[in-house]
Amino acid sequence: MGEVYISGTGRYVPENIVTNDDLAKIVDTSDEWISSRSGIKERRITSGENTSDLAVKAAKNALENAGVSAEKVDLIIVATVTPDMFTPATACLVQSKLGAKKAAAFDINAACTGFIYGISVGTQFIKTGVYNHVLVIGAETLSKIVNWQDRSTCVLFGDGAGAVLLSSSKVRGVGSILIAADGEKGEVLQSHALPINNPYAPDNIEHPGHNHIVMDGREVFKFATSVMAESVEEILKRENLTMDDIQYVIPHQANVRIIDYAAKKLSADPSKFYVNLDKYGNTSSASIPIALDEINRKGLLSNGDKLIIVGFGGGLTNGAAFLQWQK
Ligand code: COA
Repeated sequence: MGEVYISGTGRYVPENIVTNDDLAKIVDTSDEWISSRSGIKERRITSGENTSDLAVKAAKNALENAGVSAEKVDLIIVATVTPDMFTPATACLVQSKLGAKKAAAFDINAACTGFIYGISVGTQFIKTGVYNHVLVIGAETLSKIVNWQDRSTCVLFGDGAGAVLLSSSKVRGVGSILIAADGEKGEVLQSHALPINNPYAPDNIEHPGHNHIVMDGREVFKFATSVMAESVEEILKRENLTMDDIQYVIPHQANVRIIDYAAKKLSADPSKFYVNLDKYGNTSSASIPIALDEINRKGLLSNGDKLIIVGFGGGLTNGAAFLQWQK
């Protein structure tokens, strides 16, 4: 079995910044409420670019960072809950726009855990020797499915994309990976697809009539606070490490209170938990790769640094992975 490392990172967020004060003009909320309950100060909202546009820009960035051309990419995985279309997959649109002619391409949906699921899938293809370079992209235009009249959700989400290039390696850059799901709790965070509508179906089939995000925030909060710490503990156990060995935990950026809670439960130095949700809100599958790229480009990572990425989201799903940074 071969090894895998992250050879490049990239990100792209739309230019349009929407502050908490801007949102207070359209729903009954305040900067004070949003900041104190979530830590979010502003988010990026697309003024026209779709998910594949954001994904392509993040992917180009990651390829440049890796010094690998698009023609060398073997597989493109896009994790998203907000594809441009049902078909083609967003990954196929990205493949075409990048000119990654030989790459296979498909989307996956594991909501906010999607990027970690994507890392898991991409890693298998490289470890088994099938592929050398796999682009894993988390990209979302959540503003398409947010209910802009619902103050309990519209203040939390943002648009953006992050990407990594996974490449074959002699050194172990990607270690233990954990992915999990609890479908029985799925109803606490939902966005519906199209209703059944055909000449053979009765017209009273239940459907809410919209595809907005509907969320039981407290239940998601409970789930998130328990799985975040548990997932990190499981990765530490599998790697035979303690929190002292870890330079950064890069958590899914949903709520700073969830991140602080996890740090406390792990008795970890909170400054090891990278936080940028104040600038972007919750960008679902994009949040972890955006954060990873920020850390990378700020020059905060040295060769051999040990990192854990950890997330949770709709499904409900959760996951975590161990990374050892290779320059
Ligand atoms: N502005 C002002 N008031 C708001 C508001 C807003 N944007 N949104 C909700 N409120 C009100 C509620 O109506 C409620 O009022 P009431 O007490 O009169 O009924 C009050 O604030 C408290 O709401 P509550 O839902 O109890 O707040 P909370 O402390 O649980 O925080 C969340 C709400 C959503 C921030 C929090 O539950 C959370 O972060 N959950 C996890 C969500 C998440 O991460 N989702 C993504 C998963 S990937």
